[in-house]
Amino acid sequence: MKKKLLFLFSIAIATILMSFATIQKSYSPDKVQTPEGNGFNIPDNVKSVLDKSCLNCHGIDGKGKAKIKWNYGKMPSYSKSKLISKLSKIEDKINNGKMPPPRFLKKHPDNRLSHEEKETLTSWASGLATDLSK
Ligand code: HEC
Repeated sequence: MKKKLLFLFSIAIATILMSFATIQKSYSPDKVQTPEGNGFNIPDNVKSVLDKSCLNCHGIDGKGKAKIKWNYGKMPSYSKSKLISKLSKIEDKINNGKMPPPRFLKKHPDNRLSHEEKETLTSWASGLATDLSK
């Protein structure tokens, strides 16, 4: 009887150890494609600005080309290099007044970004890109 318990006990331990091993494997540095495992998360103030002016096109309900080029919802699954590249494009497009598209803003003047909101997005994007490049 004791032997049987011991046997079951070791099976249980082995199972636990094995599941740890698999978890470890999926989080090993070269498997982590994005910083998600290290707490990839977009601050609320950034989220709300993106929501106001970008996600109409780049979010879940976004359309064709915009979503192909930068899909907000898929950011956590982007590779690190893709994420860095998109973040620097986000910064550029905002600084150059290309995004949100002027044509869109003509129809939706309320979605225009204030100076402060632009600053919120660009400093987030450049800060995160810098962190990721380290
Ligand atoms: C009215 C729809 C619309 C809105 C709103 C919009 N975009 Fe875009 N965005 C597009 C489209 C369409 C493209 C693809 C343009 C192309 O490549 O010809 C694009 C492309 C981009 C790209 C280029 C990605 C790449 O890899 O080339 C970035 C970055 C981007 N948008 C960021 C933003 C940001 C940041 C906002 C909000 C501040 C925003 N967009 C708001 C439609 C939109």
